Amino acid sequence: MEDKCLIVILGATGDLTKKKLIPAIHNLVANKKIKDFAIVGVGRAHSNPKLILKKSKKYVEKLNKKTWSTLEKRMYYFQADFYNNIGFCKLEEFTKSIEKKHKLPGNRIFYLATLPSHFKVIADNLSKCGLTKEKRRKKQGFKKNWTKVVFEKPFGHDLKSAKQINKCITKVFKEKQIYRIDHYLGKELIQNIAVARFTNTILEPLWNKKHIDHVQIILSEDVGIEERGAFYDKYGAIRDVMQNHMMQMLSLATMDTPKKLTGDYIRDKKVKILKSIKPSKIKEDTVVGQYIGYTKEKVISKASSTETFAATKMFIKNRRWKNVPFYFITGKKMKNKITSIYVQFKEAPCLLFSNVCNFKPNYMVIQIQPEEGFYIQLNAKIPGKPDITSVKMDFCHECTFGPGSPVAYENLLNDVIIGDQSTFVRTDEIEQQWKIIDKIKNSINRTIKNKKTKLHKYKIGTYPKEADKLIEKDNREWHLKVK
Ligand code: BG6
Repeated sequence: MEDKCLIVILGATGDLTKKKLIPAIHNLVANKKIKDFAIVGVGRAHSNPKLILKKSKKYVEKLNKKTWSTLEKRMYYFQADFYNNIGFCKLEEFTKSIEKKHKLPGNRIFYLATLPSHFKVIADNLSKCGLTKEKRRKKQGFKKNWTKVVFEKPFGHDLKSAKQINKCITKVFKEKQIYRIDHYLGKELIQNIAVARFTNTILEPLWNKKHIDHVQIILSEDVGIEERGAFYDKYGAIRDVMQNHMMQMLSLATMDTPKKLTGDYIRDKKVKILKSIKPSKIKEDTVVGQYIGYTKEKVISKASSTETFAATKMFIKNRRWKNVPFYFITGKKMKNKITSIYVQFKEAPCLLFSNVCNFKPNYMVIQIQPEEGFYIQLNAKIPGKPDITSVKMDFCHECTFGPGSPVAYENLLNDVIIGDQSTFVRTDEIEQQWKIIDKIKNSINRTIKNKKTKLHKYKIGTYPKEADKLIEKDNREWHLKVK
């Protein structure tokens, strides 16, 4: 696959471009993953490439001066209103002139770093203005130029809106041109889940209801809503991270073995799992909370009932996972930033004759961040004593591979260029994720209305104690708490 391309970023003056996209492109260039390219930033605001790059510079971890000066020479800005068809159409001429200047063959990536409410109009205008045509190149043996389109998350607000967006964009693009981002799929340790499960034969025989007691999907954050109040207040924790990142963690950790660890083989297996997920119907199995001070944040109304914390329990209705509970916990302004999958194995029987009972069940943790890696907790004897203690078998990612692994957006942009869709979310996958989340949200909304569910307030650095009750009534505890 040819890497010579033009990257058009729609929403170029926004946070994502500044914090993630420019640093990712910098790294790809510095690591020689792209050589012949140009960037066209598009936005409504009056801006220029110098300003955009300047604001982004501090987010580049290891700045390479030569690469930075290449970016300065190859980045452009085009001011256009996504809703003004005439202005937008001038973008076609502009992109052509840039392609000519940099001798690019016409391969284009359109990155929609905008709110989902703009997806439809942008897709329509790109198509109407002729920007999305994949043309044949006579000179190069009738090879086609490619056009790919990347949609940033969130993809809709519920199942209905996601379906509407899918309907509109699939009129303009084929599924093989569409890359729906869930940046968690670009994280090294997320990419490691399937590899760890399916290449270590010691794990797969244990990976089922016979040996696993329960699983916890943990996404705890110490940050709050930062400057994103207007967006966050419409979404809340369940739609913001459970619908996407946590559902992806769950499906990768529980799917059946794909024929190959690539593209649609993985996505088919993930969809199959997502179709079997059933949220618990018991009201006490879902707890929502809001950190104290949330309603005093910029642009948040005093009466806001948006959840900044959620814990819940789900089941997977298939033979492998029957009756195994999957607990989810996520929140803003909790004590630490930790993202992990905690898999607890069943307890070993008590060794009655030697009176040895006080040992813990084994568990495995896949730690997405920080301190990426995975480890297994085992039991061992304390030297010189008959007592048993827990010991760790540890794979520390940084200790083994050193610091500086590619960051999520670098991996993902590289996958777009080489055409690997396995790290992107397919239509049926995204719709299935929303189906599950709609069920949870609708049931919360119903019970909040008739006052059967409460929005529990929690102090910064903690989480609602009702979440402990949720898991403790099943005689289990949060790994977050035990750590
Ligand atoms: C984003 C959410 O998708 O993921 C944010 O919108 C959240 O609210 C972020 O903070 C977490 O991502 P990461 O990579 O920092 O774990």
